[in-house]
Amino acid sequence: MTILVTGGNGQLGNEMRIVASRGGSDRYIFTDVVDASAESVAMLRKLAGDGVDLSTVKLDITDLEAVRKIVKAEGVSVIVNCAAYTNVDGAESNQDLAELLNAQAPQNLASAMKEVGGLLVHISTDYVFGKEPYNTPCREDQNGTPTGVYGLTKLHGEQNILASGCKYVIIRTAWLYSEFGKNFVRTMLNLTATRPELKVVFDQVGTPTYAGDLAQVIFDVTEDFLHADAGSSYRNAGIYHYSNEGVCSWYDFTKMIAEYSGHLDCNIQPCHSDEFPSPVKRPAFSVLDKTKIKQTFGISIPYWTDSLKKCVKNLNLV
Ligand SMILES: NC(=O)c1ccc[n+]([C@@H]2O[C@H](COP(=O)([O-])OP(=O)(O)OC[C@H]3O[C@@H](n4cnc5c(N)ncnc54)[C@H](OP(=O)(O)O)[C@@H]3O)[C@@H](O)[C@H]2O)c1
Repeated sequence: MTILVTGGNGQLGNEMRIVASRGGSDRYIFTDVVDASAESVAMLRKLAGDGVDLSTVKLDITDLEAVRKIVKAEGVSVIVNCAAYTNVDGAESNQDLAELLNAQAPQNLASAMKEVGGLLVHISTDYVFGKEPYNTPCREDQNGTPTGVYGLTKLHGEQNILASGCKYVIIRTAWLYSEFGKNFVRTMLNLTATRPELKVVFDQVGTPTYAGDLAQVIFDVTEDFLHADAGSSYRNAGIYHYSNEGVCSWYDFTKMIAEYSGHLDCNIQPCHSDEFPSPVKRPAFSVLDKTKIKQTFGISIPYWTDSLKKCVKNLNLV
């Protein structure tokens, strides 16, 4: 069976390369609009050895005909969509581009999978929630109430997939970090090493997600689909929530990053969000309820500090 990964050179795409390198009989094709960075290639080799697939097939997922063509030519049974417009602040002034990548492009992937009876595994976000002041973990069936353009366009992407009639698994995740690219952990590793003092918001609460853990779950979902009885529907299709276990603020997250990396001289203090002017108000509480994904796929989820420790250790390898 052939699985096509979009955004193969992003954070999650690179973690999919590592998971796929661990074996299995299925063929993975990694696609993106950009080439892999030299830094990511070095990290992939360190973490997954020489057997890891470093190749990138160029595919722009906003081009429906290009998507259809590769799906038919390669006999693709599953698309894992790791590509997106992920700049939350930037989306406020680039609404058309965010809509194209986060809403129209997933619709393209959904139509291509509908045509061949395949599965679309699409990644969405906790930022589809947040405008309502929740204080209990968000469930899958709760109405989306995004606070900004990024969350709104990701919600449109989900709605387009549902309307397409394709087989789908949508996984909403949160606060994603990895050894690759630009993310909160890598930024804070740098800042806590170089600044004597740092203020970090404590009034936004959620749960971090190590992209390596999410990639393993995507692999498991894909296997579940490929081994399910062939038919017009997939019994486990639907929307799911996935992050690591536990709850923290960005301030708590930073404190643990500093502790695990030994950056103990930086004085980290909690502050309010309004001390950092931003074009978009972020959710105050976007903890995800993960009961459904655990029950459906029989998975257990690592606690957030355990996965953070692992990632920080990996980052010190290069
Ligand atoms: N990052 C988070 O904190 C977070 C939180 C919740 C959910 N998510 C969701 O998780 C998923 C993965 O996020 P990530 O952080 O791994 O993203 P990422 O690192 O930004 O990777 C996305 C990849 O997609 C590529 N891409 C951009 N436009 C494309 C196009 N037209 N066709 C094909 N590929 C294209 C990007 O290239 P460029 O680098 O050139 O743009 C990049 O390589 C996304 O759906 C995101 O919305 C992320």
